[in-house]
Amino acid sequence: MADGNPLSNMLLVPQISFEEFQQEYEMREILDRGTYSLVRKAVVRSTKELVAVKIVDTKSFPAAGGVVQRELDALAVVQHDHCIQMRAYCWKKSYVYIVVNLARGEVLVDWITQKKRCTELEAAIITNAILKGVAYLHSNKIVHRDLKLDNLMFDVPGDLRTLKILDYGFSKVLQSAGDVLTTVCGSPQYVAPEIIMMTQAPQGSPSQVIPYTYAVDAWSIGVIMYMLIAGYAPFDEEDEMLMFNKIVRGEFTFPSDPWNNISNEAKELICGLLTVNPYRRVNPQQALESSWISMHSRALQGGLGT
Ligand SMILES: Nc1ncnc2c1ncn2[C@@H]1O[C@H](COP(=O)(O)OP(=O)(O)O)[C@@H](O)[C@H]1O
Ligand SMILES: [Mg+2]
Repeated sequence: MADGNPLSNMLLVPQISFEEFQQEYEMREILDRGTYSLVRKAVVRSTKELVAVKIVDTKSFPAAGGVVQRELDALAVVQHDHCIQMRAYCWKKSYVYIVVNLARGEVLVDWITQKKRCTELEAAIITNAILKGVAYLHSNKIVHRDLKLDNLMFDVPGDLRTLKILDYGFSKVLQSAGDVLTTVCGSPQYVAPEIIMMTQAPQGSPSQVIPYTYAVDAWSIGVIMYMLIAGYAPFDEEDEMLMFNKIVRGEFTFPSDPWNNISNEAKELICGLLTVNPYRRVNPQQALESSWISMHSRALQGGLGT
């Protein structure tokens, strides 16, 4: 576990030469393709350990350079049980190879699609892991900005406590407490209202622009928690503008199926996370102290509890 000071970890992840990379790692089959990347399995030649290598061609699309730099900036300081860990990286012409620990379980979106929805206890175990990882990121001045079911993965198949946060391509390391962000990013169903409002401010009126900060991640966690329990999203419209209008008004409901059978504590936490005003929104640390998480505390103990 890191000591909370980003600078103390900065040098833990080495940049290596492409020759060193080839000497150390033997590339294997493709694991998956992401939005910006190809991810392959690889073997550490000296130890026979399996790892994952995320390969991005920074020439293949205009945004890729920025994505890679943000990912490297964040991963250089991340060291937590619920965050994927980088081991090394190297550049070869326009390609960057990012070596991370291999996660062997399913991506959360595949797991939940197959199950349709999960129990409150399962949702609490998963949400608890995400909250711990994100509270850690925030305490290290990192905003993730792209939390969604596709960017979460189980390290050990079938062990919900081993959930890891992946994909730091939209992450931003803030330099000081007052730093704010103005880049429009995130996936439509999970995006926080303050990001949408920023895009709707009249042109040429900077005073109308509400910058955003860490609280965008808490909103996305609220969407994820809702989706895990319900099996459908709180904001889901074919017409994106209609969906964005609902998000900025915080307009979502708890339809009887399954919400009549769900605890008030779960609904309270979802409402706290899906609070439109980012200053009033529950943050990950507060969410960890919520009565819903406390209700499940016995089941949450053991395993990866840090
Ligand atoms: N450490 C890992 N272990 C196993 N599979 C991984 C790992 N990291 C990523 N993947 C797989 O690759 C996919 C894309 O990775 P991701 O980091 O989300 O890339 P992108 O930024 O291109 O979306 C993931 O959805 C997952 O299936
Ligand atoms: Mg991704």
